[in-house]
Amino acid sequence: MTSYTVAKLLSEELTLQPIEIKGWVRTFRANRFIALNDGSTLKNIQCVVDFENTDENTLKRITTGAAVHIKGELVESQGKGQNVEITVSEIDILGDSDPETYPIQPKKHSFEFLRENAHLRTRTNTFSAVMRLRSALSFAIHKYFNDQGFYYMHAPIITGSDAEGAGEMFRVTNLDAKNPPLTDDGQVNYKEDFFGKETNLTVSGQLEAETYAMSLGKVYTFGPTFRAENSNTSRHLAEFWMIEPEVAFMDLAGNMDLAEDFMKAVLSYVLEHNMEDLEFLEKRLQEEEKTKPQADRSPMPLIEKLKFVVDNNFKRVSYTEAIDILRHSKPNKKKKFNYLINEWGADLQSEHERYLVEKHFKCPVILFDYPADIKAFYMRLNDDGKTVRAMDILFPGIGEIVGGAQREERLDVLKEKMSALGIDEKELWWYLDLRKYGTAVHSGFGLGFERLVMFATGMTNIRDVIPFPRTPQNAEF
Ligand code: 4AD
Ligand code: MG
Repeated sequence: MTSYTVAKLLSEELTLQPIEIKGWVRTFRANRFIALNDGSTLKNIQCVVDFENTDENTLKRITTGAAVHIKGELVESQGKGQNVEITVSEIDILGDSDPETYPIQPKKHSFEFLRENAHLRTRTNTFSAVMRLRSALSFAIHKYFNDQGFYYMHAPIITGSDAEGAGEMFRVTNLDAKNPPLTDDGQVNYKEDFFGKETNLTVSGQLEAETYAMSLGKVYTFGPTFRAENSNTSRHLAEFWMIEPEVAFMDLAGNMDLAEDFMKAVLSYVLEHNMEDLEFLEKRLQEEEKTKPQADRSPMPLIEKLKFVVDNNFKRVSYTEAIDILRHSKPNKKKKFNYLINEWGADLQSEHERYLVEKHFKCPVILFDYPADIKAFYMRLNDDGKTVRAMDILFPGIGEIVGGAQREERLDVLKEKMSALGIDEKELWWYLDLRKYGTAVHSGFGLGFERLVMFATGMTNIRDVIPFPRTPQNAEF
């Protein structure tokens, strides 16, 4: 007797035979029909119980959520929508599930409710589809870089540097909270945080990835990153996963090419391998769209949107051009954007980004050459002396999904920039060494993995695309 997954049973031309299978009961109907799911597919397999020859106690224990081990025959199904079903000859209840208290009832639950039950929500169709896609996207990312000759590099999680200089770090300390070391004026001496050094959880593996790019050539990181921002939006998490490729001898134009090719490749992968889940999520989304006012509805169904991104060039626009467009735009027929846009040098707000992508260009946009003052210290200064070779990729429905840059490779210019920003050279001596010994043009970017998963699944809240979201509200798990 062979053990199968539901996906295999339903997808293969199997000769009818004795089989066994394990999974969780989704529903049990008429004391006879079990809909069994094992996570391998959205679909359930119907298992038909011979209730006349099954003891009453066992029948009672076949409840939604119970784990079961079934032995039986795979036979052609009489039922609609399924080719095969299992005639159960033996059922073993591996784990009971009290139907009175089991939170995941066979009905529609709100996402808020399911967030509170994050440990069980992958037993629903929506979350199992999202998490299978998340897994497939991770694989596609590793596959892409491996195929392109990149090395996978593990950047440290505990670090002394604030790569982004935004001060959004979670402190890491091994200080004795009751008896911390003090400075001369009686303050806690955080310089002693971690065996004599001030440390935090990484906000980005970029600076470390640069060191590897400048020896191995093409590298990428893919790991958790942390931002101690008050992340109360649907696009921010305190803990998120980031993919950061870094490439020696590549300039900003090459960086844009790489990012575009990469995004298209990973989305193509799921279009090729995960259609069942995508179709399910598209349908779900279309139901949800119907409840929205016309103006707020997405112009394209999910799969068409993914294909559109794969098949069309991203629009490349400089910051200066973008500001010019925004200045002359009327986002809601009557009104112009009235703040922060009239002055060159202001950072774009998400409403500006969304306008450019969704209303003006109607395709993914790569914005580049941002004002130096609103970007991080490590970005390559342009000859105009006021813009840097930065790039952000903006996606419809998401806004910023990628942030990257060509890095400042000139020691003197980098030192000057650090000094202007008050960044201590002693803290980043190793980073400066890269510019002292064999410096070269190099570039890279960071893709926020959860924002990619949001785009690929059509989910609108970032808390619903990561298993256990870390936000100010969700620290339970
Ligand atoms: O734009 P960011 O801050 O860029 C960096 O960290 C660079 N060091 C990357 C690099 O050049 N290697 O972050 C990159 C991306 C953003 O575009 C966004 O998609 C995502 O990371 N991101 C977040 N995702 C979820 N929650 C947050 N709090 C995020 N902050 C950034
Ligand atoms: Mg950014």
